[in-house]
Amino acid sequence: MSPLRNANSTSPVAEPLLSLQGISKAFGAVQALNGVSLELWAGEVLALLGDNGAGKSTLVKILAGVHSADAGVIEINGQVVSITSPADSRRYGLAIIYQDLALCENLDVVANLFLGHAQGRFLLAEEAMERKSWELLRSLSAKIPSVRTSVASLSGGQRQTVAIARSLLGDPPIFVLDEPTAALGVAQTAEVLKMVRRLSDSGHGVIMITHNLANVRAVADRAVVLRLGRNNGTFDVRKVPAEAIVAAITGAKEWTGALTPLASADIP
Ligand SMILES: Nc1ncnc2c1ncn2[C@@H]1O[C@H](COP(=O)(O)OP(=O)(O)OP(=O)(O)O)[C@@H](O)[C@H]1O
Ligand SMILES: [Mg+2]
Repeated sequence: MSPLRNANSTSPVAEPLLSLQGISKAFGAVQALNGVSLELWAGEVLALLGDNGAGKSTLVKILAGVHSADAGVIEINGQVVSITSPADSRRYGLAIIYQDLALCENLDVVANLFLGHAQGRFLLAEEAMERKSWELLRSLSAKIPSVRTSVASLSGGQRQTVAIARSLLGDPPIFVLDEPTAALGVAQTAEVLKMVRRLSDSGHGVIMITHNLANVRAVADRAVVLRLGRNNGTFDVRKVPAEAIVAAITGAKEWTGALTPLASADIP
């Protein structure tokens, strides 16, 4: 899929859904992020890769409004935004799904989907919430036996599904998933990856953090590598060999190019 397609726009001038430019963040003496830039386009899955401590989660937390950047610019649909709280992040159309999914074990699927929404703008009768729950799960082709089962009895993959379905409620254009398959088995991982692809196929932009290059191959269009808090390559996943991406992650290859997708010829 071309990253230059903007599914939500009729304008001939395509604008990325999300653009980060020169994002820096220090925690005391630790420079977690140092001038990081990336773009996310509607209809693409962007893998965010990097070794432990590379700064991936810090970047996600900046998008989530948990941390504020020391420097840099965030643009959504070409507009500069200031994300200073999780409420800001949601308002700008970002759905952040953390690895610990913050679901309530003892509540059923419907209650989890509407948790925190039931009193607000998604106030619905019980029956309508149940109908909407099926609708959300069906849109992800989710395999959940009943929306009245408690989350405690669901598998890891099914829980991930509920978390993604829940974030669909406000119809956000941008999804950020921090290691969505880290705790999952083979079949469940395949299901979640299919769901990620479905999100992008329906015009959403998805950033997926993962340490698993097979997942990147399976589902991502492009990959941005961070190393020691800096950009260390942007790759067209279908054109470059996995070794090139691994080299960028481990630092075997320091990257000095422009922040545009690398052509395969640029890779050693
Ligand atoms: N709240 C914090 N206070 C102090 N240092 C922090 C904080 N959060 C992150 N760091 C530091 O910032 C750096 C980047 O951490 P971050 O969690 O973003 O890495 P990561 O790429 O997500 O790694 P992993 O793959 O292990 O999850 C690390 O050196 C980490 O110790
Ligand atoms: Mg992390």
